[in-house]
Amino acid sequence: MEFNEALQILHDNGFLLEDTIDEKVKGGANVLNRAARNKDDEFYTFTGDIERELKNYNFSGKVVYCCCDNPEWSNFYKFFEKNFDSLGLKGLISSHFESSGETYWTEFDGTNFEKHTLKGNGDCRSEECQNLADMADIIVTNPPFSLFQSILKTYHNKPFIMVCTPLKMTQGLCFELYKQGKIRYGYTTLNKFYRPDGDTKNVQCAWYTNLPVNKSYKKLNLVPYDEEQFPKFDNENIISVKSQKFIPDTDEKIGLPVSIIINVDPNNLPFEILGIRHDLKLNGKNIFDRLIVKLKWKRK
Ligand SMILES: C[S@@+](CC[C@H](N)C(=O)[O-])C[C@H]1O[C@@H](n2cnc3c(N)ncnc32)[C@H](O)[C@@H]1O
Repeated sequence: MEFNEALQILHDNGFLLEDTIDEKVKGGANVLNRAARNKDDEFYTFTGDIERELKNYNFSGKVVYCCCDNPEWSNFYKFFEKNFDSLGLKGLISSHFESSGETYWTEFDGTNFEKHTLKGNGDCRSEECQNLADMADIIVTNPPFSLFQSILKTYHNKPFIMVCTPLKMTQGLCFELYKQGKIRYGYTTLNKFYRPDGDTKNVQCAWYTNLPVNKSYKKLNLVPYDEEQFPKFDNENIISVKSQKFIPDTDEKIGLPVSIIINVDPNNLPFEILGIRHDLKLNGKNIFDRLIVKLKWKRK
């Protein structure tokens, strides 16, 4: 994927506002793009982002497993270790990946810290890491973006809080789980990570969880359906809606920017989701992914 395409996708989907498309943000799209291409997973999470999100959950009496986290430098591990008593944790487990193959897992009970050798390379989807997950109540981490769907496949039945790029919600297993109400965005977003060399990079990310999220969501702004303002796609009998700010009040199928899902209550969806389309055209031009829906309610 080229840089302009990545930026266009982010922009079309409302993750960037017109006036924020500056060099810094362009850089972010670029970084994300290059990282995905090179399978570069070394984007480390800032403590402030972790604190802002995790203060919304109850960890009391729980064993937490950070499955992509070296206890020596992961801020996830450090957050749970430092706040072990105030969060009321029962235990903290970590393991990390080493491509060379020699790595370890750790356990901490608030007093004692123990380090154990792993047989494999610490791939969090491996059988021995799944055994560690079985010892825990919840998985909390920022996993490699390139493996997110695969890690989700292994762990979506276990409580989790994880970080990834926002558009993953509209793809593969993640989208299937979203439609079933089994995964949702968390409370906050992240936009900067640090790198092994200490440099920082702007990358737009979101939290994903299968735990309940109690936050307020926007109401859809329905406006009278005007065929000129809301044309249909060239290749499908679906109304094109460019911005989630104005949605036509109609019983017909509409194609919304996929970023709408960050703003609507997943437990009380205002529309029925019919699918995602990647192949729609408008005035001869390819249109980026759209969520195809039918509204459930009418304008009063
Ligand atoms: C996005 S980074 C985040 C690291 C840390 N969780 C944090 O938030 O700072 C993802 C980490 O997962 C590691 N990793 C790569 N493949 C992995 C795998 N199969 N299982 C577990 N961790 C893996 C990468 O080396 C990288 O350090």
